[in-house]
Amino acid sequence: MTSRVRVGIAGTGSCMPERVMTNHDFAKLVDTSDEWIVQRTGIKERRFVSEGECTSDLCVVAAQRALESAGLKATDVDLVITGTLTPDYLLPAVSCLIQDRIGAKRAGAFDLSAACTGFLTALSVGESFVAAGRAKCVLVIGAESLSRFLDLQDRSSCILFGDGAGAAILRPWDDCRTGEVLKTTLGADGSGFELIHMKGGGAKQPPTQESVARGDHFIRLKGREVFRFAVTKMSDLIVEMAEGYSYEDIGLIVPHQVNARIIESAMERVGWPLDKVFINIDKYGNTSAGTIPIALDEARRAGRLESGKLLISVAFGAGLTWGGTLIRW
Ligand code: UT7
Repeated sequence: MTSRVRVGIAGTGSCMPERVMTNHDFAKLVDTSDEWIVQRTGIKERRFVSEGECTSDLCVVAAQRALESAGLKATDVDLVITGTLTPDYLLPAVSCLIQDRIGAKRAGAFDLSAACTGFLTALSVGESFVAAGRAKCVLVIGAESLSRFLDLQDRSSCILFGDGAGAAILRPWDDCRTGEVLKTTLGADGSGFELIHMKGGGAKQPPTQESVARGDHFIRLKGREVFRFAVTKMSDLIVEMAEGYSYEDIGLIVPHQVNARIIESAMERVGWPLDKVFINIDKYGNTSAGTIPIALDEARRAGRLESGKLLISVAFGAGLTWGGTLIRW
């Protein structure tokens, strides 16, 4: 058996659309209030793509920033993997558009579909390529334009989500000496597929006038059920990732930004305070596959990734899917 290459995160980048949607903007669309949204979710505002703007536009900028922070060129990239549930097109993969637009001429490219676990799944797959010696530079991205699939008359879902993109560069650790990926885990339970679901637009229900009129092409969710599952899964994943280490070893916890109350309840269940938890849901809402790489990039730029300390990141989402990673920065 050949030895495993140690894998590091050489750089990060993110890109948020400029258009801000505040809770007050939603109060004009549906029967809701800033107070309800802040109290129940922690969200104050989120970003939406503008007319003509889409997932690939955000990804290209996030990818260029990640490459710049890693001190690399697009031609160094061997593979582009994007976790997204809102690619520009059903066909082809948004990763191919990104590969072309950044000029990653040598790279292979594909998307993967794991909803809010999309980035950690891309990271896990990319890490395996580098660890196996099959790639030396993998661009992993988590990005969404969820606003294009929101029913702006459904108050139980439309206030939760936002758009944005984050990216990271995976390299052999010897070449970057930062962000070593120590552990990754992935899981799924497809019996819960209807908890967060978009019925229309796929092969089972291609678009028809009737399906569009029924709103089958919007994201629907059973929020209360997801809430209960999320608290248990998020806390279990944190405990699993931290196994063998103490609270003092941990520098930062970057959870999927799903709902501030879910994050708080999960931390209470773990029995750890919130001081090491990175939260930016107040500014961006839930950007699905985007939340973790966007938070990771913000944390890096804010100097919150302490050298030698551990970083735990966990996510779960539609599928149901979940994932976790442990990184030594
Ligand atoms: O990343 C995975 C995708 N994310 C999720 O699946 C979200 C997970 N779930 C959640 O974050 C929370 O369950 C929500 C934020 C969606 C809802 O919070 P909750 O505390 O679980 O509220 P609830 O669903 O129990 O609803 C309480 C009340 C209901 O009214 P009644 O039935 O008690 O009269 C809702 O109709 O709040 C009502 N409600 C709203 N009121 C004002 C639901 N949405 C809103 C709203 N504004 N936007």
